[in-house]
Amino acid sequence: MNERLRLDKYLSDMNIGTRSETKAWIRQGKVTVNSEPCLKPETKVGPDDEITVNGQKISYEKYVYYMLNKPAGVVSATEDKRFRTVLDLLGTDRRKDMFPVGRLDRDTEGLLILTNDGDLAHRLLSPKNEVEKVYYARVKGKVTREDADAFRAGISIGEDKPCLPARLDIIISDDVSEINLTIYEGKYHQVKRMFGAVGKEVIYLKRIAMGGLALDPLLKPGEYRRLTKEEINILNTRRGS
Ligand code: URA
Repeated sequence: MNERLRLDKYLSDMNIGTRSETKAWIRQGKVTVNSEPCLKPETKVGPDDEITVNGQKISYEKYVYYMLNKPAGVVSATEDKRFRTVLDLLGTDRRKDMFPVGRLDRDTEGLLILTNDGDLAHRLLSPKNEVEKVYYARVKGKVTREDADAFRAGISIGEDKPCLPARLDIIISDDVSEINLTIYEGKYHQVKRMFGAVGKEVIYLKRIAMGGLALDPLLKPGEYRRLTKEEINILNTRRGS
């Protein structure tokens, strides 16, 4: 925390309570700053101040980073009138300022990063950085070498420019094929539209990696965990391939 924050905001940013609750606790004398009760919500606090609520020490975390295995059926948004959102899955770990880094379709599963670090999100999503995303898909019909060649050459999906060259690894080529696809951009429904362009339909889609970070295989759909320091470093140093 570089800047100093109002005490009530500091506490609500840390998910201790709503802004009106934290104000009330401060006025009721339940909050101390450097061992002294502090009754004014507008008091500015910084990283060196020791703060307690009801005797419990509160430490400030400016940025939080989670890896979620997004299940099908939830939307990659901060709020939605009809569907549960990926942030609803965080329960009490949810902070008001968090958002998903990019979007997966409602029926897509897999790796989604949730954070409140806007700079990191911007770097990972900026088209000029060409950050790689790896998808596993099941596709109706035989996926062929020709499909891989077409994807490698840069396939057109009906936009002004063709897609960037993409890497298609065929795991099984059969009535239902299994593939891994690595792409370096994030156009709307991109994977489904790329297969549509070669006359094939994606029937299951899961993101398994992004920006050098692989989905933790221990996370079941709907489960999440904090990123480790090493994983945050990977994302911070990654500017695409
Ligand atoms: N491509 C798609 O078609 N859907 C997604 O959710 C992600 C990539």
